[in-house]
Amino acid sequence: AQPQLLAGKTITITAGPTREPLDPVRFISNHSSGKMGYALAQAALSLGAHVNLISGPVTITPPAGANVIQIQSAQQLLNESLLLAPLSDVFIGCAAVADYRASAVADQKMKKQGDELILTLVKNPDVIAAIANLTEGRPYTVGFAAETQDVANYAKGKLSNKNLDMICANDVSQAGLGFNSDHNALTLFWLTEQKDLAIETKSALALSVMTEVAKRL
Ligand code: C5P
Repeated sequence: AQPQLLAGKTITITAGPTREPLDPVRFISNHSSGKMGYALAQAALSLGAHVNLISGPVTITPPAGANVIQIQSAQQLLNESLLLAPLSDVFIGCAAVADYRASAVADQKMKKQGDELILTLVKNPDVIAAIANLTEGRPYTVGFAAETQDVANYAKGKLSNKNLDMICANDVSQAGLGFNSDHNALTLFWLTEQKDLAIETKSALALSVMTEVAKRL
């Protein structure tokens, strides 16, 4: 059993991909497996927290004891996050939110056309930035940054631009790490500190991340 470092705390975690509909049968999405977010939920539960897990569509099973809220689109993720974040001590954005959605969703299946189809996309809301900028009930806010180069600089940029308290950066150019893998390596950044967490299973890393969060509440 773990020391109950998060007893009495409520942690809300976003996980998995979002799906942005084009019409009733099609969507734009990404390959996020949800593994890191689900591992964080499991770790927070093991440290005694109450856990809300706001999840896009994934194939893995949520940890027993988590309050799971299923979402599809970024807009739904934002709505559920805005409801739960002010009731939470910690908000962790681990979801791979689609950056863009279709400017209009067709209400009938789009018919095959010529050789070229042009889609107009519009920017999605930045969910974690919205939470980090709450003026009432703002939780301790933790983001993730998947980078392929210049990891520390991009991560620190996101920490300050999104107004986060902490960001967990991973170098997704390393084969076998990050997306869909069971392993990952992270560097944690705060405004004035950083900490490297070496390659580990996502569940071991998740426990380290949640322990670092618990120390700072
Ligand atoms: O800007 P970028 O997508 O790299 O930032 C990643 C972080 O921001 C992650 O914590 C992710 O969950 C969050 N994010 C979000 N809403 C978006 C885009 C990213 O919450 N629209």
